Amino acid sequence: MDRIRIIGGTPLKGIIPIGGAKNAALALMPACLLTKGTLTLSNLPHLVDITTMANLLAQHGVLMALNGDSKNGGHTGRVLELTANEITNTTAPYDLVRRMRASVLVLGPLLARCGEARVSLPGGCAIGTRPVDLHLKALEQMGAKIELEEGYISARVDGRLKGAHIIFPQVTVGGTENLLMAATLAEGETVLANAAREPEITDLAQCLLAMGAKIEGIGTGTLRIQGVDALHGAEYSVVPDRIETGTYAVAAAITRGDVELIGTRMELMESVVKILRECGVTVEATDRGMRVAAPDGVNGTDIMTEPYPGFPTDMQAQLMALLTVANGASMITETIFENRYMHVPELIRMGAKVNVHGSSAIVRGVPKLSGAQVMATDLRASSSLILAGLAAEGETIVNRVYHLDRGYERVEEKLAACGANIERIKGEAAE
Ligand code: EPZ
Repeated sequence: MDRIRIIGGTPLKGIIPIGGAKNAALALMPACLLTKGTLTLSNLPHLVDITTMANLLAQHGVLMALNGDSKNGGHTGRVLELTANEITNTTAPYDLVRRMRASVLVLGPLLARCGEARVSLPGGCAIGTRPVDLHLKALEQMGAKIELEEGYISARVDGRLKGAHIIFPQVTVGGTENLLMAATLAEGETVLANAAREPEITDLAQCLLAMGAKIEGIGTGTLRIQGVDALHGAEYSVVPDRIETGTYAVAAAITRGDVELIGTRMELMESVVKILRECGVTVEATDRGMRVAAPDGVNGTDIMTEPYPGFPTDMQAQLMALLTVANGASMITETIFENRYMHVPELIRMGAKVNVHGSSAIVRGVPKLSGAQVMATDLRASSSLILAGLAAEGETIVNRVYHLDRGYERVEEKLAACGANIERIKGEAAE
């Protein structure tokens, strides 16, 4: 298993290209199941999770062809054509779903198109129990009959799904995506109230519009969908990844560097920009994206994770890494997932001063972290350890890099191009 070795202490200087958003792509790809036509997605990132989704779609009968590259700023994305002319299998097997929870996003489209779907029930994961009960209750409101048997969600509907007024009791990104896709082919109008407003939802909704769906209220908490008889193929470019952007913004700040992030859009991440500025980081929009600089170090601040447009849980671990070396104390409160502090013990091994009390963590800034052997159990925790390693004195080895490869493309190349002393060590590592 690969590891990443970092010798910290070099301020990053230069340009980092930002790719298409993993979490947008993981919702856009299953949208191909809604039509016989070809959905062509460009600016697709090259990531393990995208390959897992492609494998899942392939076993449902989707034909896929890579059709060259797309350029977005300095980033070269992939162009993938997906055609679900015939759906040959409506089961999403345990082996793929357990590897990636986003596999559950085939449920809504399969049910809407085929009237049935069998999807392995995702288990808990490193950051929380993460049930899908809200997806299922909402699909039942649309007329689906759902049973849980042998570890699988078994869903069926006689004829078409029926439009319904759904009020999500809690904001759910995946639940909103599943229901939005299902509603495009339902009979009549569906209203999704308290819907998630993340840019990835907006991206999915825009793509569905391009495929012929009728959706109002895009970007708001109430989505109104008029079901249509059929959707058609479309071409769509994946939105830039705001979490990748934020992660490299922290890389610039934590190393007291000066980096331009190109191919991204600052307006996708106002809450992160606001927090970085509160810490004393310079963040400004440029023609090609945004520039981030922190020559004098950073100050502590308080953060609470919230659904969009609040501060994203997917940036919590990275900001914590930054706050470990800030002047003064900070408080972080995680409200989305119940167990998203797995990076804390590892940061402490690097000399960070962090105390967790329930859903909050107090971080007392230290002048320097020191390099260590670390490992993490999820994607964003891994990226926070890379960031800590960039700032630490001496050598840091980050184990279990496969988590990182699920969500960050060529991370060591992008950082090395800005002067970081970082390399990937191929092969075996102590677990
Ligand atoms: C998406 O997960 C993202 N994944 C996550 O990104 C992200 O952390 C999360 O949204 C929140 O922003 C993808 O887009 C593929 P939720 P999702 O449904 O859809 C609870 C990353 O690092 N809930 O909005 O699974 C749930 O347990 C990842 O890239 C229910 O209780 O998140 C959680 O506490 C990790 N019942 C909260 O709601 C349900 O039926 C929000 O989850 C659904 C969710």
